[in-house]
Amino acid sequence: MQLISDTLLNWHQEHGRHDLPWQNTQDAYRIWVSEIMLQQTQVTTVIDYYQRFMQRFPKVEDLGAAPEDEVLHYWTGLGYYARARNLHKSAKIISNQYDGVFPTDFDNVIALPGIGRSTAGAILAFSSKQRFPILDGNVKRVLARFYAIEGWYGVKKVEAELWELAEKNTPTQGVDIYTQAIMDFGATLCTRSKPKCEICPLQTNCIAFKDNRTVELPHGKPKKDKPTKQTYMLLIKNQEDAFLLQKNPPSGIWGGLWCPPQTSSLKSDKGDYLEQVEILKELPIYKHTFSHYHLEITPVLCRLNDKATAVNEAEQTWYMLNSEQQLGLAAPVKKLLECYA
Ligand code: ADE
Ligand code: SF4
Repeated sequence: MQLISDTLLNWHQEHGRHDLPWQNTQDAYRIWVSEIMLQQTQVTTVIDYYQRFMQRFPKVEDLGAAPEDEVLHYWTGLGYYARARNLHKSAKIISNQYDGVFPTDFDNVIALPGIGRSTAGAILAFSSKQRFPILDGNVKRVLARFYAIEGWYGVKKVEAELWELAEKNTPTQGVDIYTQAIMDFGATLCTRSKPKCEICPLQTNCIAFKDNRTVELPHGKPKKDKPTKQTYMLLIKNQEDAFLLQKNPPSGIWGGLWCPPQTSSLKSDKGDYLEQVEILKELPIYKHTFSHYHLEITPVLCRLNDKATAVNEAEQTWYMLNSEQQLGLAAPVKKLLECYA
């Protein structure tokens, strides 16, 4: 079997990325935070968030000791907030059970909330040069093309086949450099659309290139249309121009973030929140897309009526934009508040 490791190691010397803020360190905490941010977010977006996050939480104990609202505040706009909640949970575990030292044993690392096989492998390769394969989106794409692997990664057999190729290609020497090399290669050369095959050092042996199948491979998930859901967000302002927000339950969409009260209908039912407000105006729909569905948000300007009960401070707050108060807001909520403040 043709291996790609030597070629990629050479390629990386000249063409890889060498000075991202989470590189040139062996501090597993710094590396871990970067890998979690980079799981679903592009390098260019991550850089600023990463620097602010590390400035506020320079050590794992700083993160473990922070309130969840503050951690989510620093994640506001990055999306996939379960990443931040898991990071926070894991930081507590590392502070309490590992004396603040990031574990170096694979089984202990993968047992932490939010860390899967690929992320555990990347952290250990970068921080202590332990030889573990990785298989993130970039690596899957490179391997699926180079070896022309048929089928979608969500199918167990295809996943196993890719892991086996990832394993075989991971070198014993220079695993940290190789790991960065294949990530960079996938992100900059063997890109999802328009891969730069004409300048690719793997071109001679790449089956997808030879068979003209780079558009087709890797095979994606069989497509289903995303459903569209609707919600009304009640923008309730008080006399100071602060909005009434509620904290979402810990799991589910926007878990732990703060949102205006929501309702699926504007017809009030006995005991529901609408009994406490007077509707002033329906505002234009705002659309947001999640990985699984589209959401159409109708903001509704309201004010509390004389049936309103006092704000329950554990779950509700009056929030003023640009105030000192640090809490997590989903990007569309932040936009709406800015728009109607
Ligand atoms: N994506 C995931 N991890 C990365 C890293 N260390 N550098 C660049 N892109 C990445
Ligand atoms: Fe990717 Fe094209 Fe290189 Fe094959 S030749 S590895 S498809 S960039």
